[in-house]
Amino acid sequence: MNILDGKILAAKIREELAAAVEEIKAEGGKIPHLAAVLVGEDPASQVYVRNKVRSCEKIGFKSTLIRRPADVSEDELLGIVEELNQDEDIDGFIVQLPLPEHIDENRVTLAIQPGKDVDGFHPVNFGRMAQGLPAYIPATPNGILEMLKRYEIETAGKEVVVVGRSNIVGMPMGILMALKAYPGNATVTICHSRTRDLAEHTRRADIVIAAIGRPNFITADMLKEGVVIVDVGINRVDDEDAPRGYRLVGDVDFDSAATKASWITPVPGGVGQLTVVSLLMNTLKASRGEVY
Ligand code: GUN
Repeated sequence: MNILDGKILAAKIREELAAAVEEIKAEGGKIPHLAAVLVGEDPASQVYVRNKVRSCEKIGFKSTLIRRPADVSEDELLGIVEELNQDEDIDGFIVQLPLPEHIDENRVTLAIQPGKDVDGFHPVNFGRMAQGLPAYIPATPNGILEMLKRYEIETAGKEVVVVGRSNIVGMPMGILMALKAYPGNATVTICHSRTRDLAEHTRRADIVIAAIGRPNFITADMLKEGVVIVDVGINRVDDEDAPRGYRLVGDVDFDSAATKASWITPVPGGVGQLTVVSLLMNTLKASRGEVY
């Protein structure tokens, strides 16, 4: 069993991004600039956005954080989006989700100019991705592609089973793995809560991508020998012995799955490590005009 190490990979990509910034500086070019809009006080969102902004600073990107209280009006938020769309110094921006209930997330996402949508949430980016055109790919699928690429995991002709069909992980991941590209060219099955016999599918899989949000859900008996496991889940489970009273586990039961897997991502230290760097990679692409 070999580890697909997200931590090492993320550190390496951050070094590459920092080197790219140095090069831009040496040439007198424009420093990549990411903006983030944070509405309200949701503790998880605050942590995520802080990580994004801090990561920008660490590698030498410019960043701008725009905060508004939870009772901001939809109109004001749409106004901020429009300003960011027009601001020539901003290469890309994100509006952190979830938004308060009185705001229509779809409306806000649609208002973001696709060329600056480094989250890859706009349907134009989803559509371009599905057609194999240059597009911003959402952070988690983008991170998984990068991981498969850098560990040179073969995907052509493989049976890939994606468990989960969310707009930002399962669905795009299924499409990407089926595209005529590397990583891709796989035969893809997307499983979900209404799948009749999940294990029947996962047992056939050469590659399992688990994104369901259920702790330790996939176990060794559901897997075939030599399978590659990409575990997207980050679930809290109670653990009295852990410093905070809980620990993080994936959607895959690591210890049991490791007995069958040829490659496996740990949780923590796997795919999750790559999400912020994926956003930074998209921001660099935006500043270079590589997508639009
Ligand atoms: N909320 C949870 N993950 C994300 C993300 O990747 N982008 C945004 N904008 N909001 C999120």
